Amino acid sequence: MNEYKLALLGFGNVGRAFLELLTTKATEIKKRYDILLDLTGIATRSHGIVIDPGGISLSTAQSFVDLKSKTGLAHMDSVEEFLDHCSADIVVEAIPVNYLDGEPALAYLRRALQNGMHVVSANKGPVVHGYPSLTELAKKEKLKYRFESAVMDGAPIFSLWREALPALQLDSFEGILNSTTNYVLMRIEAGESFQEAIASAQQIGIAETDPSGDLEGWDAAVKAAALITVLMEIPALPQQIERVGITHLTESEIRAAADQGKRWKLVCRAKRVGNNFQASVQPEAVDSSSILFQVSGTSSVITFKSDALGDLTIIEKNPGPSTTAYGMLSDVISIATESS
Ligand SMILES: NC(=O)c1ccc[n+]([C@@H]2O[C@H](COP(=O)([O-])OP(=O)(O)OC[C@H]3O[C@@H](n4cnc5c(N)ncnc54)[C@H](OP(=O)(O)O)[C@@H]3O)[C@@H](O)[C@H]2O)c1
Repeated sequence: MNEYKLALLGFGNVGRAFLELLTTKATEIKKRYDILLDLTGIATRSHGIVIDPGGISLSTAQSFVDLKSKTGLAHMDSVEEFLDHCSADIVVEAIPVNYLDGEPALAYLRRALQNGMHVVSANKGPVVHGYPSLTELAKKEKLKYRFESAVMDGAPIFSLWREALPALQLDSFEGILNSTTNYVLMRIEAGESFQEAIASAQQIGIAETDPSGDLEGWDAAVKAAALITVLMEIPALPQQIERVGITHLTESEIRAAADQGKRWKLVCRAKRVGNNFQASVQPEAVDSSSILFQVSGTSSVITFKSDALGDLTIIEKNPGPSTTAYGMLSDVISIATESS
């Protein structure tokens, strides 16, 4: 039996869901793959840092964070110090995204790789701002950098292309990649005002206190840039994507489309043009003949068009922290089984 020590960066919605899933699935993972996954460290920004080589249970982790303890089982002052001393095999990162430069997550992932640890990240910032350098560093150190959850939560996107679609060229894709806007548009269509719909999205935990990153299309643009960078192998920044959010749409425009059998969606599109790409994120009124029409609420969808496989569509219904946690666990299991 091979044992892998995991260190978690971030213990918010996703970090907690990850530890819950790890706890629930431990026996099955042991039985199916003959591996033991042990969480031995957690680092947060303001809720403390803990390292315990004997393993940290869900209840210990909960009490450590709920008590807002600064001490934990080993006191450290910085995440950098944590990464230098946690002695994990795999660092699992779920800290907030920084759309502008991917930091500090990017530097943390780099440090983890330099310290000989594989990295699994749910964060799209480092993918967009550091994919080539992180991949190169991982290769040099004979380690893995995986980020299945960064774009579509638990739905298999990157592993699908890496493992099940060899030698396929991605020519274009279209989809709905932002839950908040899709949910807000649905609620307005059903009669709520813009403000009420945003409040509903905040209430169910999908929209942040400042939801402008979602409403102005930045989140969708970063996800589109991540897909172009990794799957088309063309470096792309969110600023290079033509971007229009949903805030200029009026409530009556949104409801009028529904009266005509259409639905407004914030649609991401990208296509390969020679060695470059063209991409946009903008609202479109789609009719019932489009797959996008069917995908409402917090669900997301992507259709890939490739040279040899035609259209391939993946729909993820009602994703959330627990499905994101699954994407991260799938990365961890894949790294552990490949290394065993
Ligand atoms: N929520 C989802 O369903 C979902 C889906 C896909 C991808 N993601 C990605 O997953 C990541 C985490 O999302 P979340 O919803 O779990 O966020 P969250 O609830 O805000 O939790 C963030 C965690 O990161 C910690 N943190 C913040 N800055 C840090 C730093 N500099 N160093 C170490 N720890 C730090 C926070 O600690 P303190 O509490 O002490 O500040 C907190 O524990 C984001 O990148 C997000 O885009 C989330």
